[in-house]
Amino acid sequence: MSNKKHRKNSEYQKGPHLVFIGFMGSGKTSMGRSLSYKLKRAFYDTDKMIEEREGVTISDIFAAKGEKYFRELETQVLREIRDDKIARIYSLGGGTPVSLQNQPLIKTIGTVVYLRLKPEEVYERLKGDTTRPLLQCDDPLAKIKSLMQLRSPAYERCADIIIDTGSKEREEVIGEILTELEKRGWEIPPESYLASKGENTEDSE
Ligand code: S3P
Repeated sequence: MSNKKHRKNSEYQKGPHLVFIGFMGSGKTSMGRSLSYKLKRAFYDTDKMIEEREGVTISDIFAAKGEKYFRELETQVLREIRDDKIARIYSLGGGTPVSLQNQPLIKTIGTVVYLRLKPEEVYERLKGDTTRPLLQCDDPLAKIKSLMQLRSPAYERCADIIIDTGSKEREEVIGEILTELEKRGWEIPPESYLASKGENTEDSE
């Protein structure tokens, strides 16, 4: 195996972005929005970018063109993010870090925060959700468990920062992320640590 495959995250020349990864329902979009407000950076959710381009929902893409096609779109979007030099915040789809060709791209685009939680917590958050095609099955909890087991090593490989989110309050998670960023030399406006006002705190993802 080549050395390149084993490069540590710290050896990657990191782009300017803040990037959220993690399983479906881990709060990537919600955290991305909050930090966008606090760090005054634009926020983009790559699923939404893909939906806007294709003009249909992710579920429709999976149904009409299949998962493989969707995964190709994800890689295309990552390449565009890599070439985007203005510092932004991105939330990636839960499956994006799985592909071996996506992993070096993810590590290159910026500082990567992995929001980690347990399968049971995902299940509780996403019970009744109809927008995730991979979980429309007879036993979503079993599916979550097996996908998470497969994916966890990929999330960990890509991550610069890992935050366990499960039982924590939203503001606590935000505080931990800001502290970790500050340790890595990010300039964090002091008021960012204060509890958010006027934000949409409804959505779990
Ligand atoms: C997927 C996660 C979804 C979306 C698609 C596939 C996955 O994004 O990209 O349904 O493979 O885990 P979220 O993680 O934002 O739900």
